[in-house]
Amino acid sequence: MIFCISGVSVSVCAGYSTVLKCGNDPGDSLLMITWKVDLLYNSHCILASEIEENKTHSNCSKRLSFKQDNLSLRIDDSKIIDEGNYTCEFVSDKGTFINVITLNVLVQPLVTLEINRFGFPECKALRGNPAANISWMPTAEHLTTTNRNMEPDNTWTVISTYGRERVNVTEVTCVVFHPTFAHPQNKSITTNTTAPLDTNIIWCVAVPIVSIIIIIIVLCMWKQSHLRTCFNMENRNTATIQPQGNNEEDREEVEPYASYTEKVNTIYCTM
Ligand SMILES: *[C@@H]1O[C@H](CO)[C@@H](O)[C@H](O)[C@H]1NC(C)=O
Ligand SMILES: *[C@@H]1O[C@H](CO)[C@@H](O)[C@H](O)[C@H]1NC(C)=O
Ligand SMILES: *[C@@H]1O[C@H](CO)[C@@H](O)[C@H](O)[C@H]1NC(C)=O
Repeated sequence: MIFCISGVSVSVCAGYSTVLKCGNDPGDSLLMITWKVDLLYNSHCILASEIEENKTHSNCSKRLSFKQDNLSLRIDDSKIIDEGNYTCEFVSDKGTFINVITLNVLVQPLVTLEINRFGFPECKALRGNPAANISWMPTAEHLTTTNRNMEPDNTWTVISTYGRERVNVTEVTCVVFHPTFAHPQNKSITTNTTAPLDTNIIWCVAVPIVSIIIIIIVLCMWKQSHLRTCFNMENRNTATIQPQGNNEEDREEVEPYASYTEKVNTIYCTM
């Protein structure tokens, strides 16, 4: 007769010891017990104990051993690579008993929330096992992108970014779910989206304009015959640029283009 149980799941925190119990002790009638281990990230290995001869065989890690009662398997210093299905099988004069236990090895992730270099809130759950789940408040499923990557040590890093467009809420909260957290971890951040975008404006608008102005000045100086005309135009244009520098941030984006076009036209007209 075969008795079969499965679906039992055991969790242990990485670095700790755990004991997987095969089943109730059948007493003196136990003849042999075998643990077949199917590892998630590896091959498989077998531990076997012949009770009467008091012999054990194993090609598993040395951290796996039979407990005193011969029915339970002890795992010391658990590692993520120990994750998998542990099938124990014992034979007694009452029949064969099979039990499948799934082992999960947990690693608590480190949670961070910051504004990334593009100006968007970015929530990270670093090096956890299993991968953490990240959600946001206020919810904006269509605006969030989440990526999960496995680290060399088999832990997971999950990165979620809020908003592909400019976010117009003042505060967002990232909520991280993980089996090692008694309660979801919440982190909030105020969204100050203007600062990083201003840096982009400097690189995309101001730098090319300044470069072109320098090229034009060099061209003018090179054209010796028109030298005086050029400097006259230059003075007139710098006078119009000055007050615009003090304008509001959002207008800055448009205004330099306007003054730039104006200036180029006038200079080309005189040349
Ligand atoms: C252990 O032995 C089994 C059966 O001989 C074999 O299939 C398995 O690959 C071995 N595992 C290791 C880790 O050597
Ligand atoms: C994360 O989400 C998946 C799918 O929705 C779910 O199966 C899993 O249990 C969740 N994990 C946690 C830790 O909440
Ligand atoms: C985090 O947010 C969730 C969802 O709103 C809430 O259930 C939980 O109590 C909050 N936890 C803390 C520590 O604020």
